[in-house]
Amino acid sequence: MKAVQYRTFGGPEVLEYIDVPAPVPGPHEVLIETTAIGVNFPDIRERLGVYNRSETHVGGVSLPQIGGLQVVGRVVGVGPDTDPTLLGRKVMALMSKGAYAQQAVARADMVITLDDGADDVAMARLPCQGVTAFLALQVSAVLQPGDSVLVHGAAGGVGSLAVQIAKALGAGIVIGTASNEERRGFVRNVGADFAIAYDGPDWPGRVLEFTGGRGADIILESIGGDVFEQNFECLALFGRHIIIGSTRGPGEPFAPRRLMAKAQSLAGIYLPTFFQRPDLIQRGLHFLANGVADGTIRANVGAVIPLSQAENAHRLLENRQVQGVVVLDPRA
Ligand SMILES: NC(=O)c1ccc[n+]([C@@H]2O[C@H](COP(=O)([O-])OP(=O)(O)OC[C@H]3O[C@@H](n4cnc5c(N)ncnc54)[C@H](OP(=O)(O)O)[C@@H]3O)[C@@H](O)[C@H]2O)c1
Repeated sequence: MKAVQYRTFGGPEVLEYIDVPAPVPGPHEVLIETTAIGVNFPDIRERLGVYNRSETHVGGVSLPQIGGLQVVGRVVGVGPDTDPTLLGRKVMALMSKGAYAQQAVARADMVITLDDGADDVAMARLPCQGVTAFLALQVSAVLQPGDSVLVHGAAGGVGSLAVQIAKALGAGIVIGTASNEERRGFVRNVGADFAIAYDGPDWPGRVLEFTGGRGADIILESIGGDVFEQNFECLALFGRHIIIGSTRGPGEPFAPRRLMAKAQSLAGIYLPTFFQRPDLIQRGLHFLANGVADGTIRANVGAVIPLSQAENAHRLLENRQVQGVVVLDPRA
């Protein structure tokens, strides 16, 4: 089968489209013939070797690596002790690696079945970013109906889904941040009530203005740097500040006792940790699949690119040239 592998860490050019033997599913695993593969920001970080640096404290990648975290396809094999009725079913899967291939292995407990009529490309865009957004909002922030939500990086994959999931979970005002007016238009288009810039010192004032001076009940933080600190200028009493990433770097050290006065909470979320709670992963996957089916969640696929051109897909994402997500087509 064809797969995209890298033998060294580096730029998009280290991605090689090659022939490799098909993987074999182990106990409690399924083999999926892929029809659509979603590309994620962490795929790039893994390729760069960021997760292998001592200061990163997460993950780790063994070379050579076939990256990629999410696919849609059909189950063509099951390992020992795995539900045989999954054979032949169309599925959406989240995995820790191996997605950039014509056949991929997934844990059976991180797969959900889809209707045959489900849109493969739309669904393949969802698992990693959608489940991250869902868990951040529902499990970490415990979103209550009417809560106001500030989503940073709302034109990105996690962010644009978080805006929609927040609304679907009953949020009140949802505000998204993005770096330019075109991207802010996209943020409003996916359902945010307001979209603002976050590159100056004054944006927290706008969040206060939109929330009647209260601030946001929930902030999903994915930027880092100065933005992490600025968030506290517009986090409401009892507010929940959830760290999901740091596209701009980690920012300054933080003194936790400052959370006491406003009874605020600060939590982090790292999707692979939830692989130990497949029940929550499956809850997220079902929420997303149902949301797409009933129209409350739009997939916003930015581009579909042949698997053989994964290198270009990474370039597009790294140059921030896509709105929404890139999906790879393993059959093109
Ligand atoms: N915790 C977890 O388990 C988990 C899971 C998935 C993703 N993540 C993290 O969540 C963040 C967003 O991921 P994503 O998949 O949504 O990525 P994405 O689609 O590339 O979106 C990233 C967004 O961040 C903004 N951004 C700010 N500084 C940036 C920079 N230096 N480079 C690229 N984008 C930058 C961009 O928006 P503007 O151009 O509008 O500023 C972009 O919309 C990343 O930090 C990722 O590592 C975390």
